[in-house]
Amino acid sequence: EQAVRAEEDTVAVTIENRIAWVRFNRPEKRNCMSPKLNRQMLKVIEELEFRDDVGVLVLSGEGDAWSAGMDLKEYFRETEAQGLWAIRKSQREAYRWWNRLRWYEKPTIAMVNGWCFGGGYGPLYACDIAVASDDAQFGLSEINWGILPGGGASKVAADLMPLRKAIYHAMMGENLTGPQAAAQGLVTESVPHAQLKARVTEIAEALLKKDGHALRATKWAVRRMIDMTYENAEDYLIRAQEALHSYGGVAARKEATRQFLDEKSFKPGLGTFDT
Ligand code: ACO
Repeated sequence: EQAVRAEEDTVAVTIENRIAWVRFNRPEKRNCMSPKLNRQMLKVIEELEFRDDVGVLVLSGEGDAWSAGMDLKEYFRETEAQGLWAIRKSQREAYRWWNRLRWYEKPTIAMVNGWCFGGGYGPLYACDIAVASDDAQFGLSEINWGILPGGGASKVAADLMPLRKAIYHAMMGENLTGPQAAAQGLVTESVPHAQLKARVTEIAEALLKKDGHALRATKWAVRRMIDMTYENAEDYLIRAQEALHSYGGVAARKEATRQFLDEKSFKPGLGTFDT
């Protein structure tokens, strides 16, 4: 039996070749999110965000689970016993790191190695790319224990899945496998479990070869576009491209154009220029 984990042990991190592997680290509780874990996760991701030796963040889980959602004991029952302010505080601790991750300066990948339930949809959506194991299971299990999918979980389903699938998923409390989650838009793709880490590493390495400022501008733009009119989006994108020029964007673009038009050493349609 595992003793109660110290707050700083609820998240594990390894940095390798500019990839930060961040892991929910309560495998004995299927990585469900307690207030301690939420506080620690915010600290960890904020620290990694501005480090030069980190180019991509991968979020995965220790053991069999990605995350079994919110901790029914520590996040719900114990907090509710302390009253409204305690509830609001622990909600904020959770939402704060999901929000930070949604608007992260660096590319993020969810490597969904197993169970992903309810509140887990917040960080799932926050990651730019999500790769699931074929053996992973996704569920809006809230309805199975008498609540609605709150904490953004319904919004995630509505944003990512076709409406008919989202409503069914939220009302029935049935799980989806990795391939089903990919078919319904909840994750980017699903791969056999044995290939999961290799596939995520391959994506991370491809991202590391691209211009970091352009990636940041691109991911924010796509997320911002969701609730903009066409006209607003068009204008936002002009401003975003011009802002990008202040961060070395012009030099990178000139060099890429030179490699394509003059040196003929690469084709933008077939790969990334040599930075
Ligand atoms: N909250 C609190 N404790 C949890 C949670 C959770 N979300 N998930 C797992 N645990 C605990 C279990 O209580 C158990 O604790 P114990 O060892 O002290 O008894 C331990 O983790 C292991 O869990 P088991 O159920 O024994 O593991 P198993 O592998 O058999 O099942 C499964 C895994 C399917 C994930 C199961 O634990 C489960 O259904 N968890 C709840 C999933 C869920 O519905 N989460 C809430 C979503 S709604 C929301 O997030 C708002």
